[in-house]
Amino acid sequence: MEKKFYITTPLYYVNAAPHIGHSYTTIAADILARFYRLKGYEVYFLTGTDEHGEKIERAGKEKGMTGQEFADSIAPRFKDLWGKLSISYDDFIRTSEPRHTKAVQLFLKILHDKGDIYNGKYEGWYCTPCETFWSNSQVDSRICRDCGRPVEEIKEENYFFKLSKYQNWLIGYLKDNPGFIKPESRYNETLSFLESETLQDLCISRPKSRLNWGIPIPFSNDHVTYVWFDALVNYISAPGFGVDEKKFNKWWPADIHMMAKDILRQHTIYWPIMLHAAGIVPPKKVFAHGWWIMKGEKMSKSKGNVVNPLDLIAVYGVDAYRYFLMREVTFGLDGSFSEDGIIGRFNDDLANDLGNLVNRTLTMVEKYFGGIINKPKKYEKDNSEERLDNALLDQAKKLPRELDSRMSELNFSAALTEIWGVINAANKYIEDSAPWKVSKAGREERLKEIMYNIFEILRIVGITLSPFMPTTVKNIQQQMGLGTDISSYSFADASEWGKSKEGTKIKKGLPLFPRIK
Ligand code: MSP
Repeated sequence: MEKKFYITTPLYYVNAAPHIGHSYTTIAADILARFYRLKGYEVYFLTGTDEHGEKIERAGKEKGMTGQEFADSIAPRFKDLWGKLSISYDDFIRTSEPRHTKAVQLFLKILHDKGDIYNGKYEGWYCTPCETFWSNSQVDSRICRDCGRPVEEIKEENYFFKLSKYQNWLIGYLKDNPGFIKPESRYNETLSFLESETLQDLCISRPKSRLNWGIPIPFSNDHVTYVWFDALVNYISAPGFGVDEKKFNKWWPADIHMMAKDILRQHTIYWPIMLHAAGIVPPKKVFAHGWWIMKGEKMSKSKGNVVNPLDLIAVYGVDAYRYFLMREVTFGLDGSFSEDGIIGRFNDDLANDLGNLVNRTLTMVEKYFGGIINKPKKYEKDNSEERLDNALLDQAKKLPRELDSRMSELNFSAALTEIWGVINAANKYIEDSAPWKVSKAGREERLKEIMYNIFEILRIVGITLSPFMPTTVKNIQQQMGLGTDISSYSFADASEWGKSKEGTKIKKGLPLFPRIK
């Protein structure tokens, strides 16, 4: 079977600059993309920006700009941040690009020709910040159900998509595919919603008299496409739907759509039904993680409680930031953000555990062997030494398997805990094997073996950590005197003990993570 992996992030709205929340999803997707590349998969990692709709048009107007001008001014900030955060995306789609417009119009035409789109009158409510329609029964005191902000009453001639027609199909699909929505709690939430409420058809247009900034509906002169109906299509427009059949068939269905729980409904109800109606299979999995919470509330621009990732990486560095986000909270649950949390992880896990292991290992290789790695010749080893070595090797050998299983569950914090288990075992091994005593006793071959064993651990830790902390791993590799092209690594190399070459010359550098006071 062809080893390929297609992963997506949401398309972020360009109404404001990216914050920690956006970076979280994107970093998680990046880690998976890098992990699958390491495992020899061909990867297509897609991200981008959601540029149409009332919210963006209004934000532009406030600055005296058209929707396009405004989007053009913000989209580069996302690209710039992704560059700074080492995001290895393969494609960045903007919904204002012609390749996307074409696909959306084709998609609409397919559904229209099939009779799944009809026109009618929409009377209800609209939340512009969420870009969501709400019916009368869904709105209490003119407040949005999702975000709690005021909704606007609208009465418009619009087009509707027959969502309700497919409700039973979706229920059946979810029952047949319990792994489609993760974590399980979100699957249960979606299924019980579908089993207890009747879906209403989805309004998929906005009149041009009200909103101009959108993709024209191909069968109407007076309407543009509702922004969600437009944006979701990106997942198929980017790999070439309607344009490049070969490319599209290669990549679709996506392996994972990643996002937070705020946009679960659109991805687990609208999107699979839209696809099914158009005769396209749904994505393989939708994973909705939790929210970063700041002072008790979801971090979001409208609440004014956002933290800019650029400020954090300027102080702690990119990899400490990536590490903190992935290690601190189990993927899927909410997490409270605090800078003290980053400092704690930085000093304990990065400076004390990892940084120290690299530093002391390389210092000893310099001190005892002039910076050269040696494989030991046969020598006398007592039982306790044998046990010590075996325990370390066993732990290192099971790491790739454990990691594989944690990563398949998208449990990034548990994956990191596995890697740290090996780092800490190596630190303990140094204490227990006491190379300084072995050196004093003049047992040269034993000393070589101890050094070789820890060096091998560093090599394996480097490979397994490379998806999470690519820059740090490059640095470690450089200090170890190994090739620094981490894209040439393979996961299989982490399962093979003894690959470090005799005669490798290390080049010890500065400490990786100097403690923060
Ligand atoms: N444009 C839509 C998505 C269209 S996808 C076809 C949208 N954009 S958004 O800019 O609001 O991004 C929402 C996403 O940003 C969340 O699903 C999540 O990935 C990320 N996050 C935004 N705030 C977040 C937190 N406070 N915590 C975690 N992730 C958050 O919705």
